[in-house]
Amino acid sequence: MTDTVNGYLSADHDRLDRLLAEASERLRAGDVAVAAQVLAEFAGGLRRHIRLEDELLFPTFDRVTGMNGGPTAVMRQEHRAIERHLELMVAAVDRHDLGAYADEKLAMLDVLGDHNDKEEAIVYPMTDAGLPEGERAALVASLRAFR
Ligand SMILES: [Fe+2]
Repeated sequence: MTDTVNGYLSADHDRLDRLLAEASERLRAGDVAVAAQVLAEFAGGLRRHIRLEDELLFPTFDRVTGMNGGPTAVMRQEHRAIERHLELMVAAVDRHDLGAYADEKLAMLDVLGDHNDKEEAIVYPMTDAGLPEGERAALVASLRAFR
């Protein structure tokens, strides 16, 4: 039973973690051009991940739990903070400012770490549990197809 919201989105978190680690590693090695490419892939992937949660996942979570925006309102605010730090990370690498990159990365991870943990422990499993199997499979297919 691999076609779950938790399975798909947790794997995407892991994929994004690996891209960020590689970008930082390339930067440490002084390979700024490749670091910028990998960081752009990370940024695009993270922005997509955030949008598919805002547009598809959170409305479904609100509906199946009947919580009507309480927890997801907080998650959406955290998304805005993550996006701001991400933008500043990309700008820092563009001007080869490794100190600013490190500061913004730390600030982003400060939000992102707990945020992803809450999603994997609460939001994704509760969404999976609240959906009949057919609807869950349809949602996962929509997440996969999201661009
Ligand atoms: Fe999120």
